[in-house]
Amino acid sequence: MSVLVTGGAGFIGSHTCVELLNSGYDVVVADNLCNSKPDVMDRIALICGKKPVFYQIDVCDCEALRCIFQQHQIDAVIHFAGLKAVGESCGIPLRYYRNNLDSTLSLLECMQEFGCKKIVFSSSATVYGPSNPSPYTEDMPVNTATNPYGWTKVFIEQILRDTAAADADFSAINLRYFNPIGAHESGLIGDDPDGIPNNLMPYIVRVAAGQLEKLTIFGDDYPTADGSCVRDYIHVVDLAKGHLKALEYANMNRGVEAFNLGTGNGSSVFELVEAFENANNLTVNRVIGARRDGDLPAVWADTQKAKEKLNWSAEKTVQEMCADSWNFVKKK
Ligand code: NAD
Ligand code: WQD
Repeated sequence: MSVLVTGGAGFIGSHTCVELLNSGYDVVVADNLCNSKPDVMDRIALICGKKPVFYQIDVCDCEALRCIFQQHQIDAVIHFAGLKAVGESCGIPLRYYRNNLDSTLSLLECMQEFGCKKIVFSSSATVYGPSNPSPYTEDMPVNTATNPYGWTKVFIEQILRDTAAADADFSAINLRYFNPIGAHESGLIGDDPDGIPNNLMPYIVRVAAGQLEKLTIFGDDYPTADGSCVRDYIHVVDLAKGHLKALEYANMNRGVEAFNLGTGNGSSVFELVEAFENANNLTVNRVIGARRDGDLPAVWADTQKAKEKLNWSAEKTVQEMCADSWNFVKKK
């Protein structure tokens, strides 16, 4: 079976390519490398002994996509390609809407033209918006977001629901990721953002590596056990494996389904920093700062649906996530 992986050079996409190749899928990657590096394909080959077929294209570009579909019999698509920085999306919303929506529309049109009927989409827990209480269940309303990035996920989920409603043979899975961290155990691929990281784990590892002076913990006065925000951190390899289960589900079923990919357990910022220190036997300089605009106090997943329908649940511990995140940075 041949799978087109858009955004396959990125953090989650590269780990999913590894799992796909190791499970015998033929993998074709389409990525414009706007947030990733070309050597990722070689690193995947070092891990698997096989390399995905790679096309450096913009997924918004219908003609370039068409060439891929002409050259390969694509059976299913996993759609990771997109811009993902929440803060940046507030400053340049049109770029986010253009990139994330256009790439999805081009892809769906091309899939339609070539009779490809299965897609797994990288959605996000952000679609649950600010009003639903944790743990989030897939049947909660997902019609609001707090930033342009989040709106692109809300809109794309709707586009997929509409596409499935118009074609009884179409199958779409919206995977709502919680907070992916960690890295492949080889240390060859991981999260490698350019510039100063926005997300917690990449920031922690850079402080630990001495590249940044200290971590600022954004608020210790939330209504949580220790006052810092709680999130559902999930190892990226567990997350990647969830995509293979979703592909199998899309093969067996028609219509559209959403699944949470989280562990079902929350960790506070203080807890994650301490887990990182303990797992790696080092100290992370930190200070308490003001709350960050838009942060919710506590977010975690209800994981029952993925367990029951996908036969998937996360296996790796927070300790492993912390050790693997650090191993990747040490090896770079
Ligand atoms: P990433 O930035 O590491 O990977 C995305 C990849 O898509 C990059 O390699 C980038 O070069 C590519 N890309 C972007 N726009 C493109 C375009 N128009 N054409 C071709 N390639 C393009 O991000 P990631 O963390 O691996 O996230 C993958 C997906 O999962 C994204 O859609 C993201 O919104 C979603 N997601 C990520 C998280 C997270 O915390 N990392 C959480 C929830 C959802
Ligand atoms: C985690 C916690 C911060 C940095 C974001 C997106 C979400 C999804 C995942 C894509 C929060 C705290 C952070 C720092 C800190 N992405 N923090 N100091 O905000 O839960 O989710 O990434 O869909 O949509 O919003 O992740 O890693 O930025 O923050 O104290 O320097 O760490 O306040 O509580 P977040 P994050």
